[in-house]
Amino acid sequence: MVIGMRDVNPAARGGVETLLAAGVTVETGVMEDACRLSMLDFITWQTTERPYVILKMASTLDGHIASRMGKPEAVSSEASREVVMRLRGGVGAAGGAVLVGANTLFIDNPRLTARVEGTEREPLAAMPTRRLPSPEANLNILQQRPADCVFFTTAAQAASPGAQALREKGVRVYGLEPDERGQGLDLLQMLHLLREQEQCHYVLCEGGARLATNLLENGLVDDFRLHLAPRVLGDEDAPSLFCGRVCGSMEETLNLRLVSMRNIGGDCHLRYVSGLEAACLQG
Ligand SMILES: NC(=O)c1ccc[n+]([C@@H]2O[C@H](COP(=O)([O-])OP(=O)(O)OC[C@H]3O[C@@H](n4cnc5c(N)ncnc54)[C@H](OP(=O)(O)O)[C@@H]3O)[C@@H](O)[C@H]2O)c1
Repeated sequence: MVIGMRDVNPAARGGVETLLAAGVTVETGVMEDACRLSMLDFITWQTTERPYVILKMASTLDGHIASRMGKPEAVSSEASREVVMRLRGGVGAAGGAVLVGANTLFIDNPRLTARVEGTEREPLAAMPTRRLPSPEANLNILQQRPADCVFFTTAAQAASPGAQALREKGVRVYGLEPDERGQGLDLLQMLHLLREQEQCHYVLCEGGARLATNLLENGLVDDFRLHLAPRVLGDEDAPSLFCGRVCGSMEETLNLRLVSMRNIGGDCHLRYVSGLEAACLQG
């Protein structure tokens, strides 16, 4: 008997021992990385109390996610954007959420919908911010689908009349503790609430850089999808994929593992994961 990996669900363990006791020869750990890769979401649900987190970002070849003007402009190709729409559609169908940082919300004013034919359920839109908007704010997401909006803010703002007014519009508002490093709100607490209170098993984070960096730094990115467009800005004042850290050495990098790369509409789609023991590169 050949076994890829043992079940991470403690309630389901013991099969190997039963087989051994019955005299069956058992080899475990055969292509374990590949097995693990095929069920990373399940492993996350079994071993943590948070959703499976996919981080997706698009950048130029020199790692920029927008121009210095901070305008909402497409970075990647039409074909890449279709892939994102399908990903959002899948997350929505599974009852999950698309997550964006407050600056992305206020600058890009995204709709965060799947915009693919046959979408029956759009993803929730989750947004952490210490600047809770008013119910009248000119935000697409708030005005077009308030019942899908989930704001995470400070405990004080969550208890304010402004939060109450948002709730009357159908929006959910949760209060969070500040994160330990003073970068914003506690993202692990946010993810726990998304799973426990909103029944989200998948979260698709679409940036921006500050939120992405903080998630990565806290070990909260399970799967990183980078859409690398064959374009160069060459402007060091344009926002980069990740930001906000101060590192004196390459030993301080946050490390991921490349598991696949594909050419989609001229963009290079790179997929990285965390937590695999050995490289597992697919074509
Ligand atoms: N190409 C792409 O894939 C892509 C994707 C998304 C965005 N973008 C671009 O990225 C830019 C915005 O990115 P950004 O880095 O400035 O901001 P961001 O990551 O979108 O938002 C960061 C903000 O989120 C709030 N926040 C609350 N808790 C946080 C925490 N623990 N960690 C991090 N943020 C937390 C804070 O705002 P409060 O002070 O309100 O709490 C913080 O300033 C825009 O130009 C946008 O166009 C590009």
